[in-house]
Amino acid sequence: MKIAFIGAGYVGLVSAVGYALAGNDSVCIEIDERKIAQINGGKAPIYEGGLDDALLKLTRDGKLLATSDYNGIASAQAIFICVGTPSAQDGSIDLRYIEDSCAKIASILPKMKGYPIVVVKSTVIPGTTSGLVKGILEKGSKLRAGRDFGLAMMPEFLREGTALADFKHPDRIVIGTMDEKTRKVLMGLHSKFPGEKLIVSPSAAEMIKYASNSFLATKISFVNQLALLCEKTGIDVDDVARGMGLDNRIAMPFLRAGPGFGGSCFPKDVRALMHFSGKEGVEPTILESVMLVNSLQPLWLIGAAQEKMPLKGKTICILGLAFKPDTDDVRESPAIPVISQLLKMGCKVLAYDPKGMANFKKLFPKLDYANSMDDALKGADACMIITDWKEFKKPIAHYERLMKNPLILDSRRILDPKTAITASYISLGRGIA
Ligand code: UDX
Repeated sequence: MKIAFIGAGYVGLVSAVGYALAGNDSVCIEIDERKIAQINGGKAPIYEGGLDDALLKLTRDGKLLATSDYNGIASAQAIFICVGTPSAQDGSIDLRYIEDSCAKIASILPKMKGYPIVVVKSTVIPGTTSGLVKGILEKGSKLRAGRDFGLAMMPEFLREGTALADFKHPDRIVIGTMDEKTRKVLMGLHSKFPGEKLIVSPSAAEMIKYASNSFLATKISFVNQLALLCEKTGIDVDDVARGMGLDNRIAMPFLRAGPGFGGSCFPKDVRALMHFSGKEGVEPTILESVMLVNSLQPLWLIGAAQEKMPLKGKTICILGLAFKPDTDDVRESPAIPVISQLLKMGCKVLAYDPKGMANFKKLFPKLDYANSMDDALKGADACMIITDWKEFKKPIAHYERLMKNPLILDSRRILDPKTAITASYISLGRGIA
């Protein structure tokens, strides 16, 4: 099948690669010429394990192509809309890129052969596909959804860092459509993929995405607040999480306490669901608490350090700027509020991240960045571990050798307290070693 992807961002590019690897032909429609050149040269504009190798092979074999020309979709049988849906100022979802791309698709739809299918992959609030998207497509093309072209909503559940593996091995594939022909085509396209296929209405598919991300975010905020209580009472939060997670109604994943969730999805999606819920007259009390806990959680690092020494004028080493390991993405990273607060308090900050520094520099151009973890630690009064990169997992003695004053605040509990010689090692949810 020839599939066009509108937007070669994270979702669009990974999907284009994933479907091409599954034997389809992918064409990415992208407005950014720099991205187009990179993709056609076999290089991913984002850091994602395995993506470069796959892209190089697919572009060489002519199975994947990027272009800015919307006419590139005319010969496709399906069009996946993968443009961004950022948060507006008030937390609601900004649909301008969806509107733009639908208007352009509508102008090409009449030129397409057979029964083309338009699939919304972008995360959108319930009702968007059957309302706004359908409206723009029908008005612009003078065609009818369900008669002349198919319409569906298929949310994506890809995690950054493991996106290609997630694509190949989904837990479930959600197909939101009211149209039998569209259902058949999409079931065929996904017939070789594992995971249960769930056929629901487009609005239910849209809600499944928000509900899943908001529930996972709730799980994290729950365990994060529990971690603070465990720490005060001398209980190891990981023991509690393991004990809870073994109950298969609760399950282990997403019970790792840390400095709070970040990234391009969780904060944005929870906010959008809150806004939608409020608009519909359902007070989003649970989600409000989830976001409140998440906004306070990164500041644990500062509070715990302050209990040991006044921070003004001190040199603080920050390890980890990406919102999680194996990605260069720093969007909504807990490092942002921590560093902002430290700078406000008059600290000198020296930061290091194996992949995220280039992106972080766009947010904090004047911050001091180190070339290595060891350079960042040298002479520091305190070290704050924010991201659980593997390379930070060293014996505490290694930290002690380099730091001026070995005070270590570990918000991810990646160090082994038994490896400390003199350090004051404080880990979130476990207290002082
Ligand atoms: C998430 C969803 O998992 C994915 O299904 C969705 O489509 C996009 O958003 P991603 O943003 O890549 O994926 O990251 P994920 O691995 O889910 O982690 C999100 C955040 O939660 C990170 O900041 C991470 O550090 C944090 N987290 C996760 C925890 O603090 N504890 C956990 O136990 C799990």
